[in-house]
Amino acid sequence: MKKILVAPSILSADFSDLAKEIRIIESAGADWVHIDVMDGHFVPNITIGPVVVKSFRKVTKLPFDVHLMIKEPEKYWKEFQKAGADLITFHSEISADKKKLAQEIRSAGIKAGISVKPATPVSEIEDLLPFLDLVLVMTVEPGFGGQSFMCDMLAKIANLRKIIDNNKYACLIEVDGGINASTGAQCAQAGADVLVSGNYIFTAPNPKEAICSLTTGNN
Ligand code: DX5
Ligand code: ZN
Repeated sequence: MKKILVAPSILSADFSDLAKEIRIIESAGADWVHIDVMDGHFVPNITIGPVVVKSFRKVTKLPFDVHLMIKEPEKYWKEFQKAGADLITFHSEISADKKKLAQEIRSAGIKAGISVKPATPVSEIEDLLPFLDLVLVMTVEPGFGGQSFMCDMLAKIANLRKIIDNNKYACLIEVDGGINASTGAQCAQAGADVLVSGNYIFTAPNPKEAICSLTTGNN
């Protein structure tokens, strides 16, 4: 069986002590750190910028999975790359040239991902798959942690899996929103490679057990 990666979303962490929270998830077995960047335009919430991401680089060597929920990622991605991002995911619903953006990100020596909101069909991004390292399927409306998983997205994940496998694209599928042991197992079954999880991990009495349960499907 393939290894499922876990990327805890620090959006649900204690923002007054993010260094400690990152160390906790690192020792609990996190594979990546998922960092949600929101600009108050693309989504109705504002979070953190590159200065904060840069400060995390002193805390951990884990890969930084930066999810840009911003209107103009073409203007800001470089700052996140300089701050230490290993993977930068932008949204398919932006107006910039997405193929060009993916190519620019990759030419900076890091990975490029694209994210689809729940209402965006896979057909919108199919042509871009050869230029991407990852597709992030949103399983809630982006903007806030702690929402409920949208089961309708399982068919979208399965469809994407089929397209990626049939064409032998080297593109991972990541899922984000409402992921716990049960929904995570359903996503893995549908073909997801990476599970983002915020609320479930950071409210768990034992984050290590929570992370473990995401890869084993046991609660
Ligand atoms: C939502 C963010 C997610 C979110 C995940 O816009 O992209 O990463 O924080 O958190 P949970 O697991 O709590 O839904
Ligand atoms: Zn996210």
